[in-house]
Amino acid sequence: MRQAFIGFLIFLGVAMVNGQEPALPLRELAAARDFYIGAAIHTEAIKSNADYRALAEREFNLVTPENMFKFGPISPAPGEYDWSHTDALLDWAEAHHMRVHGHVLVWHQQQPGWLNEDTYSPEQLAAILERHIRTVVGRYKGRIHEWDVVNEAVADNGRLRDTIWLRALGPDYIAKAFEWAHEADPEAVLYYNDYNGDTPGLKADAIYKLVQGLVEEGVPVHGVGLQMHLIWQQQRSATPRAIGEVMIRLNDLGLKVAVTELDMRIHDPNRGREAMLDLQAEVYSNVLRACLDAPNCDTVVVWGVSDAYSWIPGFTGNDDWPLLFDETLQPKPAYEVVAQALAGED
Ligand code: G3I
Repeated sequence: MRQAFIGFLIFLGVAMVNGQEPALPLRELAAARDFYIGAAIHTEAIKSNADYRALAEREFNLVTPENMFKFGPISPAPGEYDWSHTDALLDWAEAHHMRVHGHVLVWHQQQPGWLNEDTYSPEQLAAILERHIRTVVGRYKGRIHEWDVVNEAVADNGRLRDTIWLRALGPDYIAKAFEWAHEADPEAVLYYNDYNGDTPGLKADAIYKLVQGLVEEGVPVHGVGLQMHLIWQQQRSATPRAIGEVMIRLNDLGLKVAVTELDMRIHDPNRGREAMLDLQAEVYSNVLRACLDAPNCDTVVVWGVSDAYSWIPGFTGNDDWPLLFDETLQPKPAYEVVAQALAGED
């Protein structure tokens, strides 16, 4: 019965990608195979742009607040929290049956202005971090399915990044963060999240060693988030095989993987936007297929709903057109290949 239903959905999915109007949104194709297709949600767009909101509701069955949960934006003063954005986001996600991926509890960027190493002793900083994790995770206990507990703790040279948390608590801050989060919500799935570790190499090895050590110590880490902020030059390296190799190695440790921040920059001064869209679609397809094939991956999250709200132009100074929907919220070729992959088409 279930097989027949999935077959019906795949039939509709094929009709969709060959036709003008999508017959089935991504979230329905995903749900038919117990998969999560998500998007990072922009703090302002979700409040002010009804078309953006409707598109997100139609297409995604998981959402990651892009900035709302970060320590700086959520905590304007020591021990004080502004829950207005996150409360509204949770209510909206629940009303539309979307899973929520919490991002992020421990990071070296977007820290509060009041968090100053000259003001606090290492012991006080440890207490601040513990209180922060327990407060945020505890408030939404049972409502947030998964958390990025620690983000980007590994530097590009493979060593632990020199951050306020490493300096105050030592390398143990990572294990402690997972333990505090687990105590605050024992049901939440807890991720270590990082960039440039999605294909084999120095960074992937360093992330593997870090989480392997945590698993061996019995630390409650359940998965690794592969961010995947890709550039078009990675067209040849980001193959399903290379990505799959990283995923399987983590599976052998008993860990889940999720693609947590997928986007792809395609600005090339020698070629126009249109010429790059198919290349972009090819890489999106590779990522989806790698995750769908891996036994421990059931989630792919794109880092934004539409090119109009992506963080990339502010970062690179180029348009770069990194996402599934263009500035006018219309689907791009990458959208079509994601639909095809979710529909089980070759
Ligand atoms: O909200 C303020 C606004 O009030 C102010 O007027 C404006 C002036 O610059 O800044 C606004 O804040 C910006 C915020 O995004 C919201 O748009 C910050 O300056 C800007 O730094 C911040 O950038 C975010 C970036 O993380 C911070 O490093 C991006 O939106 C966000 O997409 C990006 O996401 C990270 C992930 O969390 C972790 N992985 C990498 C990824 C990309 O850097």
